[in-house]
Amino acid sequence: MRKKIVAGNWKMNNDINEGITLISELNNIFNDNISKSNIDLIICTPYIHLYKANEILSSNIKLGAQNCSTNDSGAYTGEISAKMIKSTGAKYIIIGHSERRQYYGETDEILLEKVKQCLNNNLTPIFCCGEILKDRENNSYFSVVEKQINNVIFKLSENDIKKIVIAYEPVWAIGTGLNASSQQAQEMHQFIRSLIKNKYNNDVAENISILYGGSCKPSNAKELFENKDVDGGLIGGASLNANDFIEIYKSF
Ligand code: PGA
Repeated sequence: MRKKIVAGNWKMNNDINEGITLISELNNIFNDNISKSNIDLIICTPYIHLYKANEILSSNIKLGAQNCSTNDSGAYTGEISAKMIKSTGAKYIIIGHSERRQYYGETDEILLEKVKQCLNNNLTPIFCCGEILKDRENNSYFSVVEKQINNVIFKLSENDIKKIVIAYEPVWAIGTGLNASSQQAQEMHQFIRSLIKNKYNNDVAENISILYGGSCKPSNAKELFENKDVDGGLIGGASLNANDFIEIYKSF
């Protein structure tokens, strides 16, 4: 049975003190009555929080980063390697978020290197894909997402693809308050799962977690997560509020 996941993407928010406060709030709210063993709660913080977050986070909350370098180590000023991230205790890295693709020019080739860095360091990549508004409007959204998947994660072996999590994030829904409808999310998730089945096999397709991201909040999470192929969410804005984030978790 595939994992259900609610992952928070803090993006470039929270200084150290604000981050510690938010983690303390999460620790307090997310007690044993709420936490379920088949649904993971993850926070993906800025790099600077990772070490401290790992120290203070409740053991039922997992930790991730939002990016990593394509390189192992060396003269790459300002970069952070997957190995360094691993050493903080983090277990996940978001790879290929649309903001990285759009503002930092991350191409499919770069993202494949980053996914490999995660896997080489036993970290789980949360690989993001999703179309922009223009693709949605001209009905090319399936082919756009298929290409993103083909160019990156379908370059992996069957053994490696089993180790990744996918997040479908329509770019027009990110931070806009305008989420994909439950039906739009389900049809894309089903499509992605069918691509995986065709490329690998049914077993791989049925076991991979596919998260939805884009203006997911307490008021719409239940409807989105009820879909057969939606295994949880990648949450931006609403993950910055402990109550909202845990409410989303509780919508399963
Ligand atoms: P949002 O962001 O929930 O604020 O729309 C989602 C994301 O970018 O992962």
